[in-house]
Amino acid sequence: MISTEDLLAQIPQVLKGTDFPTLGEKYEGKVRDNYSKDGRRILIVTDKLSAFDRIITLIPFKGQVLNQMAQFWFEQTKDVMGNHVIEFPDPNVVVAKECTALPVEMVVRGYITGVTSTSAWTHYSNGVRDFCGNVLPEGLKKDQKFPQPILTPSTKAEHGEHDESVSKQNILDRGVITEAEFDEMADAAMKLYARGVEVAAKQGIILVDTKYEFGKDADGNIILIDEIHTPDSSRFWYADEYEKRFADGTPQKKIDKEYLRE
Ligand SMILES: Nc1ncnc2c1ncn2[C@@H]1O[C@H](COP(=O)(O)OP(=O)(O)OP(=O)(O)O)[C@@H](O)[C@H]1O
Ligand SMILES: [Mg+2]
Repeated sequence: MISTEDLLAQIPQVLKGTDFPTLGEKYEGKVRDNYSKDGRRILIVTDKLSAFDRIITLIPFKGQVLNQMAQFWFEQTKDVMGNHVIEFPDPNVVVAKECTALPVEMVVRGYITGVTSTSAWTHYSNGVRDFCGNVLPEGLKKDQKFPQPILTPSTKAEHGEHDESVSKQNILDRGVITEAEFDEMADAAMKLYARGVEVAAKQGIILVDTKYEFGKDADGNIILIDEIHTPDSSRFWYADEYEKRFADGTPQKKIDKEYLRE
């Protein structure tokens, strides 16, 4: 555990961005600086914290924490789905296989929660009962566990645009991926989430929901890219207080960036 004093002392050292022209062609995501060259993509995870598709602030060690959590989870799930990892040469860096990203993000939700306009709870409390093709029963309460995890695919928006939650049929109608591709990604997402829930539970943590991105590698295989089960892509709650807080209707004890969105 890092003391507040040590964290504060590191603020001048936060990693805001990088500039390494020799590493390849640069693409700046909201959080990751990407360099592509010779079939490889070097992703440098900065300390930027984004919410609502904007950079809100910088937090010492955030990039490293994210990258090392992703490293752990890529390892824990590689038997479920192949991934883009080649190596982790530095706490903030992953060298990955360059893929053609598939323009659909697979969001899996085990609980109905959230405060943003795209959250399951926001839609539900506004009266939505068909959420991306999932029929939701009446009477759900905030933070309630779904009988089965649900899949709510989302279009991966162009740089600067906002993602949109949609049904499978809607995605197929857009013609951006084939049905076989969709089904393979959907199946992998549900299995990855199940593994995540199982591993997190051993540490007393609930993996509430999460988002996966997939790409096609040079051989045409669909593999997991970007990041997995990090506090940027997922919500996490403490398991030991879940039931009591849910029964009382009080907010869950969490370790993700939901506090920032709130
Ligand atoms: N192995 C890979 N091959 C190709 N693209 C990848 C790979 N891994 C991640 N990406 C893409 O690289 C980018 C990572 O940067 P980052 O996560 O900061 O972007 P973002 O802000 O989430 O998304 P955007 O690209 O919309 O700004 C994402 O666009 C992601 O889809
Ligand atoms: Mg991203």
